[in-house]
Amino acid sequence: MNSIQSLLARRIPGYALEQAFYTDPQVFQADLEVIHYRDWLFAIPACELVKAGDYVTYTVGAHRVVIVRGADNQIRAFHNTCRHRGSIICKAAKGNAPKLVCPYHQWTYELDGSLLWARDMGPDFDPKQHGLKTVHCRELAGLVYICLADNAPDFDMFANTARPYLEPHDLGNAKVAFESSIIEKGNWKLVWENNRECYHCGGNHPALCRTFPDDPAVTGIEGGETPLHMQAHFDRCEAAGMPSQFYLHDDGQFRMARMPLKEGAQSYTMDGKSAVRRWLGRSPFADAGALLKFHYPTTWNHFLADHSIVFRVTPISPTETEVTTKWLVHKDAVEGVDYDLKRLTEVWIATNDEDRQVVEDNQLGINSPTYLPGPYSPTQESGVLQFVDWYCNTLAGRLAPETIAAE
Ligand code: FES
Ligand SMILES: [Fe+2]
Repeated sequence: MNSIQSLLARRIPGYALEQAFYTDPQVFQADLEVIHYRDWLFAIPACELVKAGDYVTYTVGAHRVVIVRGADNQIRAFHNTCRHRGSIICKAAKGNAPKLVCPYHQWTYELDGSLLWARDMGPDFDPKQHGLKTVHCRELAGLVYICLADNAPDFDMFANTARPYLEPHDLGNAKVAFESSIIEKGNWKLVWENNRECYHCGGNHPALCRTFPDDPAVTGIEGGETPLHMQAHFDRCEAAGMPSQFYLHDDGQFRMARMPLKEGAQSYTMDGKSAVRRWLGRSPFADAGALLKFHYPTTWNHFLADHSIVFRVTPISPTETEVTTKWLVHKDAVEGVDYDLKRLTEVWIATNDEDRQVVEDNQLGINSPTYLPGPYSPTQESGVLQFVDWYCNTLAGRLAPETIAAE
């Protein structure tokens, strides 16, 4: 096959990517090694780990990770592989354990990863040399990010920029009201490309379109002037203490903006009214819109006046991607009293399924030998182009230059 470098070099600007980017196992492996194994990845909302010993497991490519709250209340992440003969330690998707005990020979680790006990290992055995391998882990305003690289890239620039936008949403006082995980039969980049435009919304998302404006200025990048009604919304929210102004980082990896919903809409419900009576966060008004945040390569989020929704994108194979969605409400909000679960979740459950369908149809068409990359709409798909540019630039910048065979 063509090298990935030559595929990147012959890319036509403003056009979709070639088939190999969405189907080829070598490209998929490069995506994992060059992007997912190196960048900061959103893993879970911190509120999933309420007390010491609560853990969640997360698999990214070949890496299995366990994220656990320690006795000192700190959240840490470890490679979920025993330092004896390598068995995985925590098998469940989530749970609580006072110590992390390997199921094979019961080596027992503290919640901080240190090895506490190992039977009959002889006088020269040093438990201190056999603690669990750590995974970089940072908590940002109630969102837990991990990084699988030995040397993690800077996190502070992102954290310091995002924190003021996130803090009013008070995610530290959230609970997960509902979660869903679906497998979309499409490459992870198709999931992202679909997310970064609303060109498809009118034709596919009848429920979402009741409240979410399919205005390219909402999903795209700021090209030229900010529309007046949008700037008025930013100004109104900022005056009330909610950072809102559009921010796209220079390298394109993350963006924040508090976007207005459709006129009169408060939340992603069928009637547009709030879904939760007891709000999560300190929004001064119901129609504060949605703080839209994305951080490549794993997460986009919607933070509303009454609740928040976090999405996580995990590549499974060249043509399969897991999309996990968690609906967060105030921890004291009571189901059936403060919110109705169906009303809270129905719009995005339907939207996710509609997006799954368009992504799968997109993948099937790309699999055709006759597929040729077509042009993006300059007005409707600037966000898609922004994602694809970020992806190609990141890959090109990190792959070794092509070696020229010696004579
Ligand atoms: S592999 Fe874990 S205790 Fe042996
Ligand atoms: Fe969609």
